[in-house]
Amino acid sequence: MTEQRTWTGHVFIATSVDGYIARPNGALDWLIDRPGPTGDGGYSEFAATIDHMLMGRGTYEAVAAFDPWPYTRMKVIVLSSTLTAVDDRVTVVRSLPEAIAALTAAGAERVYIDGGRVIQSCLAVGLIDDLVISRVPVLLGEGISLFGALPADVQLESLGVAPIGGGMVQERYAVVR
Ligand SMILES: NC(=O)c1ccc[n+]([C@@H]2O[C@H](COP(=O)([O-])OP(=O)(O)OC[C@H]3O[C@@H](n4cnc5c(N)ncnc54)[C@H](OP(=O)(O)O)[C@@H]3O)[C@@H](O)[C@H]2O)c1
Repeated sequence: MTEQRTWTGHVFIATSVDGYIARPNGALDWLIDRPGPTGDGGYSEFAATIDHMLMGRGTYEAVAAFDPWPYTRMKVIVLSSTLTAVDDRVTVVRSLPEAIAALTAAGAERVYIDGGRVIQSCLAVGLIDDLVISRVPVLLGEGISLFGALPADVQLESLGVAPIGGGMVQERYAVVR
């Protein structure tokens, strides 16, 4: 699946120290209602390199009401087998192979991959090239996990670890092929 890939996949995400990206009900208060990183933690710099985004339905439903819409500089594809009505800011695809085909047909070069289940699906089939994980200094105990089961180990090379303010630590990894 990865041999003909003409684009690279990139994760930029915040987690609790115990690896959750949201509470079980999707709440992000633990991330939002606290001192943030200095500046935006490098998000603007990251986003400026991105031309397409692939997100899951769960993430789409969390961000759909954001005003203003934060993804104006990238084309957004939502992966969902169930969504029926969406706005014209996004394109919906029904499966990961369909997402890959759409990204390739669109001439994607650098794809921002977001949402726990989508990231897990993409990691499992080798569609992610690097990850930036900003850890919030809190243990939630339960929630929506960033990572899950894999068919095989995914070897990572550390590209650095740095404090980014607000008590957060940012880890950067490249996926080793
Ligand atoms: N902390 C952060 O930085 C951060 C970042 C992003 C998101 N979040 C939070 O994370 C939560 C969403 O994460 P999530 O893991 O629940 O959801 P997600 O990955 O955004 O979306 C999951 C949904 O995407 C579709 N999907 C995923 N993989 C698929 C595949 N291989 N093939 C077909 N469809 C697939 C399915 O939709 P259907 O059921 O419709 O088929 C699935 O239910 C939200 O609460 C959001 O706010 C946090």
